[in-house]
Order: sequence, then C-alpha cells, then structure tokens
Amino acid sequence: MVNVELKNISKSFGPVKANQDINIKVKSGEILGLLGENGAGKSTLMNILCGLYRPDTGKIIINNDEKNFKNPGDAIDAGVGMVHQHFMLVPIFTVTENVVLGNEETGKLNHLKINESEQKVREISEKYSLLVEPKEITERLPVGTQQRVEIIKVLFRSAELIIFDEPTAVLTPQEVKELFNIMNALKKSGKAIIFITHKLHEVREVCDSISILRSGTIVGDADPKKVSNKELATLMVGRPVNLSLERKKK
Ligand SMILES: Nc1ncnc2c1ncn2[C@@H]1O[C@H](COP(=O)(O)OP(=O)(O)OP(=O)(O)O)[C@@H](O)[C@H]1O
Ligand SMILES: [Mg+2]
Repeated sequence: MVNVELKNISKSFGPVKANQDINIKVKSGEILGLLGENGAGKSTLMNILCGLYRPDTGKIIINNDEKNFKNPGDAIDAGVGMVHQHFMLVPIFTVTENVVLGNEETGKLNHLKINESEQKVREISEKYSLLVEPKEITERLPVGTQQRVEIIKVLFRSAELIIFDEPTAVLTPQEVKELFNIMNALKKSGKAIIFITHKLHEVREVCDSISILRSGTIVGDADPKKVSNKELATLMVGRPVNLSLERKKK
C-alpha cells in the first residue's frame, strides 16, 4: 500500500511561478488524472515528486512520512517512479540494458547478471502484459514499445507510485488503448498512478479522480464519472469553451 500527498507545493523559475500552493493526493489502486494546458506546471510538479527538482516550499508525504528528496534515487527508494514525457533511453542498448541502467554499481553487466535481469524483465513484462523482447535493441522498437521499456524500468525498481507524463502524446490510438489496459492492470495490482494529459476524454476514460492545473495552480477537482468535457475544458482554459464535438452529441 502506498499513500502519497503533496502539500502546499510551490516552485518558481525566476519570475515564472510554475507551481503555486499545490495540494494533491493519490493512493494504491487509484489513477489520478492531472489535466492542464501547455505550460500549466504539470511536469514541474511531477519532477518535484520524482526528485529531479526541489520545491521552494511545501511537503511530500508518503505513507505519513515527510520526504526530502535530493535526487531521483531518493524518490525511487521511496517507491516513486516516472515515465518521462521525453524518454530517457539509450538507443543502442538492449531493452534489458536500458532497464538496469543506473541500477548497476559497476556500470558493466556480466553474463550472469544480464541473464538474471533478462529473466526479471520477462517476468514483469508477462505480469502486466507489457509485451517486449528483453534482448531487442531499443532504437529498433516502435515508440509504444519503447514506452513499455520505460514502464518496466520503474517496475524493476519496485515503484509503487508510477507517474506518466503525457504518455499518450506519442502513441497511436491502438497504442493508447494498450497503455490504458496496462495502467488498469497496474492499478489492479495495487499501484498508485498519476496520469498527465491535456485530452479531456482520456482523463474521463481511465481516471478515478481528476485535478485540473492552470497557470501553476490547482483550479478544481472533478469526478470523471460526473463531469462533462465542457466543464473540464472551462476549468482547464479558464473561460467557457465551445466544444463542437460536445455540441454534436447533444
Ligand atoms: N527548467 C525550467 N526553467 C525555466 N522555466 C521553466 C523550467 N521548467 C518549466 N518552466 C516554466 O514553468 C512553466 C510550467 O512548465 P511545465 O513544463 O511544468 O508545464 P507543463 O504543464 O508540463 O506543460 P506541457 O504540457 O507543455 O508539458 C512554464 O511557463 C515553463 O516555461
Ligand atoms: Mg510537461
């Protein structure tokens, strides 16, 4: 079980207030959607939660314990893993080499270890239907498969909270369906998930709760089962929006 809370988080870059007094919560078996336009502050907030940035103020609380992450290693030790908007894979490495990269003290893998690691990659891949061949060279894989390597990488490090930063932006509609199946499988197995997107139908389809971020602040929370696209769009943009698709449906 994992219970994650961000309390009163603020972060500025010079004059830009990227995050202002942000509060969000997510726990095991839940998918929290973080919805916001370009520049709303979504990645900044998640980079704080995964130890890449330090907040100016505010707290990260995991299982009632206040955390002070100095680097992503600290966050992963606390069970937080992130699948980044721009993948961080080495193209010429195999799937398994990418999965273990950064996890090796020696920097080099001997045959025994690589066999063990390949086996573990296979196990994770089967458990969550993350289809991928451990020996394949990463750059030869389609983008959707490379994303699975990133997911396996965080699971390999025993992440309990998995952050997906705009994972659907690079995917085909078929790959999006597969990703949502994977996210649901992770949720069922007790992982907590934060899913970032600016696509209204996606948060409504896959999330258990939604927080809407605009200009660095949370402007509202919504129940995906009750909220309409129009209400979400209005919160996200800050003024009423005409959604032609929405109007056609009615
Ligand atoms: N390292 C940085 N240095 C300076 N400004 C930054 C930095 N990172 C983010 N910003 C600024 O902070 C604000 C929030 O950016 P952030 O990347 O968190 O938004 P986002 O919601 O993830 O947007 P997108 O949908 O485009 O990914 C933006 O104005 C951005 O220009
Ligand atoms: Mg971003």
